[in-house]
Amino acid sequence: MEDKTITLVQDSFKKVRPIADTAAELFYAKLFQLDPPLKQLFPVNQESMKVQGNKLMSMLGVAVSGLNNFETLVPVLEDLGKRHLEYKVEEFNYYTVGEALIATLEAGLGDEFTYEVKNAWVDAYTTMTNVMMNAAYQKN
Ligand code: HEM
Repeated sequence: MEDKTITLVQDSFKKVRPIADTAAELFYAKLFQLDPPLKQLFPVNQESMKVQGNKLMSMLGVAVSGLNNFETLVPVLEDLGKRHLEYKVEEFNYYTVGEALIATLEAGLGDEFTYEVKNAWVDAYTTMTNVMMNAAYQKN
């Protein structure tokens, strides 16, 4: 990934941090709207979903800060991808999650979610999830 792309992702993520709880809620609402059966993979109870939302946002934060040092991030993402097999996540679900994430950022950042920022996020999400998916579904 180019330095410029990394900077765009990191700077925009900083703006999402203060609204992390709302962003997590928005994200799951969007995700379940796109693919309602995905609900079955997640905890039923509201409180556990909050915990889940926090984990997602903090892991996303770790990944976003680690983009400058991607080699260090690779084993972390590989393990995360493998754990997602245990959560019954299938390969195609990564595309829906990507769509929900982009929609969440768009809603959270408003005008600041420019075309350039959007492309940077698509690049970052694709780069991170390719590592997770390759580790989980043995593509190489
Ligand atoms: C960049 C991509 C993703 C990140 C950063 C991420 C992050 C996380 C984290 C940090 C956890 C907590 C458990 C753990 O660390 O193992 C988790 C659990 C989970 N994730 Fe993801 N995830 C990603 C993609 C996905 C995708 C594509 C799906 C598909 C629907 C998904 C569904 C789940 C489920 C079902 C759980 C377990 C919930 C539970 O039973 O508590 N995640 N994820």
